[in-house]
Amino acid sequence: MAETSTKTAAFVGRSEIVPEKGRLIVDIGDRTIGIFRVGGKLYAYENLCPHQGGPACQGRIVPRVRENIDAQQLAHGMRFDEDELHVVCPWHGAEYQIKTGQHVTVPQLRLHGFEVEERGGEIYVLV
Ligand code: FES
Repeated sequence: MAETSTKTAAFVGRSEIVPEKGRLIVDIGDRTIGIFRVGGKLYAYENLCPHQGGPACQGRIVPRVRENIDAQQLAHGMRFDEDELHVVCPWHGAEYQIKTGQHVTVPQLRLHGFEVEERGGEIYVLV
């Protein structure tokens, strides 16, 4: 681990260990952290659901469901939005946006995020 100002850059592994739309769960110190890649960018969160402490980062990764609504407000079925991926906590189904850690409907629920860096083909989480 390398020290940055007040945080430590913990080496996680080579970049290819987290593929696009993939995830890696790692233990760093006394924390378990989920690392995701969406649109080429990495996101890292503590694997601890703010609802009741479940392993939120280990849940199913799903695209957001959007409804097709026309100008007259008529619904024309639903579609998956592959640009917005969510992770669903396996304990009670809380659904979080991977790009923000925010619960999709409850503003008070947000995953605890960590900065994550990719340099020289390697991934580091700042803890
Ligand atoms: S602990 Fe995650 S949804 Fe309840």
